Amino acid sequence: MMRLEKYIATSGIASRRSAKKSIRDGAVTVNGEPILVPGHPINVEIDSVEFEGKQVEPLAEHAYLMLNKPAGCLTTRRDERGRPTVMELVADLPDTIYPVGRLDLETEGLLLFTNDGDFAYQLLHPSHEVEKTYLAWVKGVPCDSAIQRLRQGVTISSGTTSPAKVKRLKANKDSALAKFEVVIHEGKKRQVRLMFKTVGHPVIRLKRVRIGNLRLGNLPSGQYRLLTPEEVSELML
Ligand code: URA
Repeated sequence: MMRLEKYIATSGIASRRSAKKSIRDGAVTVNGEPILVPGHPINVEIDSVEFEGKQVEPLAEHAYLMLNKPAGCLTTRRDERGRPTVMELVADLPDTIYPVGRLDLETEGLLLFTNDGDFAYQLLHPSHEVEKTYLAWVKGVPCDSAIQRLRQGVTISSGTTSPAKVKRLKANKDSALAKFEVVIHEGKKRQVRLMFKTVGHPVIRLKRVRIGNLRLGNLPSGQYRLLTPEEVSELML
């Protein structure tokens, strides 16, 4: 048995909170009967649920989603010191899902979650070499030779970075900041931050906007969306 609002939320149709509201508003039926009380028990094997006239399909065995992670929350399932974690932003979903890889505390942007161990393993495996694009706002304006060093690879604490695509998006000669697009396929710890620090331009803000073919797009900060089956299979290519 599963509570009605949780059943709706795990299908990805609405958050648990808005599911509760729709239930109270009479927009949800179970086996054709309107149910107005959140918490109504659902037998996932046999009950048929409609939400605002649409059949609710239970979440497939495996779930895949992307979150736009805000700065200031930890990529971990649980923090012993009680600090905010990314799990709180996907609390509507079954608690078997977990983040694929990690973004630093202060890094924002595209973070994948799944409960499919093979998917996570493949995506994180170095041989998969999936490209990731980051936007980096850095202190000062790096000169061409610094940018060239970043492109060729620099030595950071965990080794030498592979060649990267580094494009300056915005730089004003008398500005204190420059903005870059960086494409890497490795996942060394704090890689982008350490790369820029090595050439003397610490990162002030960092946001991941792409993994493989998957783009963050205009997903608002702190929100998630389920991936489509096509997006999942493209990532696995
Ligand atoms: N590089 C970093 O420095 N931080 C991240 O979170 C990801 C890539």
